[in-house]
Amino acid sequence: MDIESVGIAGCGLMGSGIAEVAAKAGFDVLVREVDEGLIEAGRRRIEKSLGKAVEKEKLSAEDRDAALERISFTTELEDLAGCDLVVEAIVESLEAKNELFEVLDGVCGEKTIFATNTSSLTVTDMAAATSRPDRFVGLHFFNPVPVMKLVEVVRTIATSRETFDRAYAFAQAVGKVPIAAKDSSGFVVNLLLVPYMLDAIRQLEHGVATVEDIDTGMTLGCGYPMGPFALSDFVGIDTLYRISEIMYEEYREERYAPPPLLKRIVAMGRYGRKSGKGFYDWSGEKPVALPL
Ligand code: CAA
Ligand code: NAD
Repeated sequence: MDIESVGIAGCGLMGSGIAEVAAKAGFDVLVREVDEGLIEAGRRRIEKSLGKAVEKEKLSAEDRDAALERISFTTELEDLAGCDLVVEAIVESLEAKNELFEVLDGVCGEKTIFATNTSSLTVTDMAAATSRPDRFVGLHFFNPVPVMKLVEVVRTIATSRETFDRAYAFAQAVGKVPIAAKDSSGFVVNLLLVPYMLDAIRQLEHGVATVEDIDTGMTLGCGYPMGPFALSDFVGIDTLYRISEIMYEEYREERYAPPPLLKRIVAMGRYGRKSGKGFYDWSGEKPVALPL
């Protein structure tokens, strides 16, 4: 595989994880965030996660240091021009993503492959806005990236075989298990997972049970690692809301529609674990369900 340098756009929950696994696998990584404060926050997230990997004896201290050395940061999008692969992991908005890809399309070399980590947008809607739809693919990682083994590799009707194969090989090279998916909103996993999370919110709205009891129900009753509310806070309430709106817009089926309570929580700025509050308050040692 001839990919050596990887650009990552966005260093939030997902971008930081993708940067981390790529650097651990030996790729040179250049991360773009919008300002220095967000670069610092992203760098801290990567350092914390690599520190945890060392603590858990998944990584040696030398390999942690080597991985950190392979990651550089910039606020200039144009600096990604020389990368072999650019993985976009910014906010789930077609407008924002297309604005970014338009700039990248103008500065990146012919050979650069573009990949999006979108959860719910169609890859086609981004690829079609560039001059390289044949070199455009979906690389959908899962949260937390260093731990979750799956990557959905998404091909549009225009993605070339070579691009798909290289993206697939990249997912393997960063230690993941890729599955191939066609470009339909939600791909394989979110098409099943998102309605489940939204149904839990509707169950809460209908007063069937409390946040804690629904989460306990799914962890102890079904063996899920976390219940739907802890998972929603983990994904990000703002991101879940955007995903839901996009999938509803695409399919016009009620099961994808954002429940009003979700909208209210977003309006209150409770974006989940990343902001400290969502369905739970995450500031203490253990999450505490908030009154809704
Ligand atoms: N780096 C490397 N390894 C790490 C690590 C790190 N930073 N942090 C933890 N690990 C390893 C641990 O060593 C452990 O490995 P072993 O099982 O081999 O011992 C494993 O990861 C689990 O770690 P913990 O025991 O510390 O964590 P946990 O048991 O509390 O589980 C969790 C945490 C993995 C997040 C678990 O709760 C879980 O799987 N939750 C569900 C996550 C999920 O569903 N994600 C998908 C979200 S949807 C999405 O991503 C798509 C979208 O588009 C929205
Ligand atoms: P996030 O809110 O944690 O991070 C997004 C980051 O992108 C922010 O730090 C923001 O400053 C930055 N950003 C915004 N515009 C930018 C630009 N033009 N250039 C560079 N950076 C920019 O969001 P996230 O959870 O990391 O999600 C990122 C993408 O990954 C979304 O498309 C989301 O749907 C997808 N995704 C999320 C999850 C999840 O569980 N959170 C899982 C898989 C995929």
